[in-house]
Amino acid sequence: MPPARRTRFPGVALPQVGLAADVPEAAVVAVPTRAVDGAAELTGETPVDATGLLEREKAKGGAGELVSIPTPGDGLLERVLLVGTGEGSPADLRKAGAALARRCKDAASLAVDLRQALPDEAGLAALVEGLLLGSYSFSRKAEPKARALATITLVGPKDKAVLHRATDLAQATAAARDLVNTPSLEKSPEWLAGAAKDLLRDLDVTVLDEKQLKAKGFGGILGVGQGSTRPPRLIAATYDGGGSTHVVLVGKGITFDTGGLSLKPNAGMLDMKMDMGGAAAVLATLRAVADLKLKVKVTALAAAAENMPSGTAQRPGDVLTQYGGRTVEVLNTDAEGRLVLADAIAYAAKDLKADVIVDVATLTGAMPVALGKRHAGLFTNDDALARQLEQAADASGEPLWRMPLVEDYRPALDSPIADLRNIGRPTLKLQGGSITAALFLREFTGGRPWAHLDIAGPAMAGGDEDEKTKGGTGYGVRLLTAWLSELSTGRRSRRSA
Ligand code: BES
Ligand code: MN
Ligand code: ZN
Repeated sequence: MPPARRTRFPGVALPQVGLAADVPEAAVVAVPTRAVDGAAELTGETPVDATGLLEREKAKGGAGELVSIPTPGDGLLERVLLVGTGEGSPADLRKAGAALARRCKDAASLAVDLRQALPDEAGLAALVEGLLLGSYSFSRKAEPKARALATITLVGPKDKAVLHRATDLAQATAAARDLVNTPSLEKSPEWLAGAAKDLLRDLDVTVLDEKQLKAKGFGGILGVGQGSTRPPRLIAATYDGGGSTHVVLVGKGITFDTGGLSLKPNAGMLDMKMDMGGAAAVLATLRAVADLKLKVKVTALAAAAENMPSGTAQRPGDVLTQYGGRTVEVLNTDAEGRLVLADAIAYAAKDLKADVIVDVATLTGAMPVALGKRHAGLFTNDDALARQLEQAADASGEPLWRMPLVEDYRPALDSPIADLRNIGRPTLKLQGGSITAALFLREFTGGRPWAHLDIAGPAMAGGDEDEKTKGGTGYGVRLLTAWLSELSTGRRSRRSA
């Protein structure tokens, strides 16, 4: 039996999207216009003459461009919107959907007349993603302004399965955004564990508390969490849809990163409630994978801790013992993500015997310096896995860029008193902080196929941009789900890839 439709935790519901054969009564009717030779061309009919207007407005039909035609207002129809769809690619339709959703947030209902320009499967899915994710909002205002847009009707398409898939994906992404946007006053490691149980209520969710973590030797998670009054957790959830490959997704779940005793300056701390964006992404991906009933076995591990300075905090120079027994000299308590991830990755390798490990983490401030805010950095020991993830990135619209694991930098992580140090030796002046961080993680993979996504850039958006809304983006959910969908079809088994 499919799980009951959950109410999102804790935000505002996304609009409902339905299909129809004819244009229904609606407050706004949108008609796609495409870009042709520097001008815009209407691809449908409007209740008013619009072709002349497009010319007068010098419309170009670029993706997301909007030209508004107010109507007399005697009926329900308030306006007709001409929406640019560019070349009609999925990326264009995603932009168009998001632009429409933003423009219509105060309208009661929206109908999009696609009869003259029916998108293909990928285009339809992208349009729905854009419409739903562009509608996303998060608020803790005393009197939040309710978004009025409750129903969206797509006129023309008949493929309900595509609509449902895109809706599941958008819902999962919205859940990830909610987790990231929740302030850390609410969002302790224990809260995150509860939220995971709520989000994945139909799956097996196991939570290790600080006592169990201690008994089992998760010294990295404990070391990072020991400065906080709110103890750490390791959250594990599994969905088994069959198939021979066990994928383990590992997420960095720092519910707030002050840097610890290696304290961040105030400006560097402002956004650090988002330092669990990796955990949010892997938990929400599991939600999507279960909703889509993919034929894969996936475990999500979220390593949750709050990195605080206090009398009980770990000190620079302390040596901790990671899960599995390796020791680490902690020379900078702000390089905490790799410590919690190392425990979870070692657990995935040794105990879960993962066939593939993919970790997702807001790991280094150096990553957006290198790649900007849109791309995640991809580090992997497996070229076939790199290609699969790059394809999934193209298909999902969540871009990534492969980065090198520079072998010559590995000695920078050697410590005279422990198996590893947690930051590259500064005297070597290597720079490339994202690379040394990835090399540190690689030590715990047991040589298994592994990919590391450094999402410090794309996890959060500084403002509304296409389907992203200011704040948590849910980056990774669509990318990972696209990758797992491909694995699920069996067209490409991991080993033969
Ligand atoms: N959570 C941060 C990385 C980060 C910074 C994410 C900015 C998003 C925006 C991470 O824990 C961190 O503090 N990394 C340090 C590592 C350094 C101490 C080696 C960094 O990037 O400065
Ligand atoms: Mn840090
Ligand atoms: Zn961090």
